[in-house]
Amino acid sequence: MKGLSILGSTGSIGLSTLDVARRHPDRFRVMALAADSNDGRLLEQCREFRPDLAALASPDAARRLEGEVRRLGLPTRVLAGEEGLEAVATHPGSGLVMAAIVGAAGLRPTLAAARGGKRVLLANKESLVCAGRLLLEAVSDSGGELVPIDSEHNAIFQCLPQPVRPGHCPAGIRRILLTASGGPFRTWSQAAMVRATPEQAVAHPNWSMGRKISVDSATLMNKGLELIEACLLFGIAPGQVDVVVHAQSVIHSMVEYTDGSVLAQLGNPDMRTPIAHALGWPERIESGVESLDLVAIGQLGFEAPDLERFPCLRLAREAAEAGGTAPAVLNAANEVAVAAFLDGRLNFTGMARVIDSVLQRHEVQQVMSLADALAADAWGRDAARRELGPSGANPA
Ligand SMILES: NC(=O)c1ccc[n+]([C@@H]2O[C@H](COP(=O)([O-])OP(=O)(O)OC[C@H]3O[C@@H](n4cnc5c(N)ncnc54)[C@H](OP(=O)(O)O)[C@@H]3O)[C@@H](O)[C@H]2O)c1
Repeated sequence: MKGLSILGSTGSIGLSTLDVARRHPDRFRVMALAADSNDGRLLEQCREFRPDLAALASPDAARRLEGEVRRLGLPTRVLAGEEGLEAVATHPGSGLVMAAIVGAAGLRPTLAAARGGKRVLLANKESLVCAGRLLLEAVSDSGGELVPIDSEHNAIFQCLPQPVRPGHCPAGIRRILLTASGGPFRTWSQAAMVRATPEQAVAHPNWSMGRKISVDSATLMNKGLELIEACLLFGIAPGQVDVVVHAQSVIHSMVEYTDGSVLAQLGNPDMRTPIAHALGWPERIESGVESLDLVAIGQLGFEAPDLERFPCLRLAREAAEAGGTAPAVLNAANEVAVAAFLDGRLNFTGMARVIDSVLQRHEVQQVMSLADALAADAWGRDAARRELGPSGANPA
């Protein structure tokens, strides 16, 4: 029986993780759950899984949850704030930690899990983009493990020779082919994208995901963050990662070897596959995902990404090449821009413009400590807010 903590249990990845865990009551025990402010959904999860610990970042929401947990006589301690999230990440009964908080807010608890020697199931790519080397060092120093949950990186992990050492590229790899669905605006003109609404941007054709990552998929910033993630996780240079648009999301990514062999991982676009892989690894366990029907799919299509219409991918590649604080600043500016777009304060194409301006003003430095990463994150957020103007609005 393995103990499992979930950071971000109320979100899309959190729910899929609980769906897989629910299928294996004799294999996984849910020990600790954490979220931001959704006390209603967390209470439901506490009723079903009866974890030892639950935490909410919001103190008010944590107070409400604690009142309900007491009233129902559940065996769950409730904590609040940053301390609560770290307690979930380092719960002594959990060897497995799903890191699925969205954004750089996940950095501290994910790092705490890595320092605690856990197997970190990494969905929260932003924490790696912000503080990649620190996170990899923490895993290696503590003797922990890192298994990627992003379907692309999980696919690459599966296509590489085992064991995969985080941050180290095995011999014989020529390049990584990172597949991209192209998002909901793959075939839209630049002029149409200017008027794209948040509702249109979050309506992803293949994947059902949280709002922030859905917008990132629509701008292709998600692929850019994944490019940075791939370089860090697999110890490979940005020039060895090629992005290929594959609208069907059946091939989740590929590894090309020096002899010309290309290995791919295929499956239905359902996050329960990488989640089950990472939970069970090296064993294979049931995920609830249906078999892939290749005959019904018929043909697989591929195209090159259009960097003119999707400049975020170019910006992310430039940040990957610059290294140091550049990826953390890119990520921070993106988080501010996406929030402004979702609030109706910035139009769709304005997001890339804000991020570009912030990066142009940034002087890249080395990231030697968590303080350096947090300072870069704060600088990027501040610079992006300035770019949006005093009222936070920049509709042009
Ligand atoms: N969804 C996917 O298919 C997918 C695929 C690959 C990678 N990922 C990555 O997985 C992560 C989560 O994505 P998602 O789609 O599951 O997002 P989501 O549905 O928006 O869920 C986000 C989760 O994070 C929690 N959260 C947000 N801010 C927090 C804070 N400050 N402190 C503590 N918890 C906080 C939310 O809690 P509340 O509910 O209380 O707000 C929720 O549980 C992202 O990094 C994303 O890039 C997602």
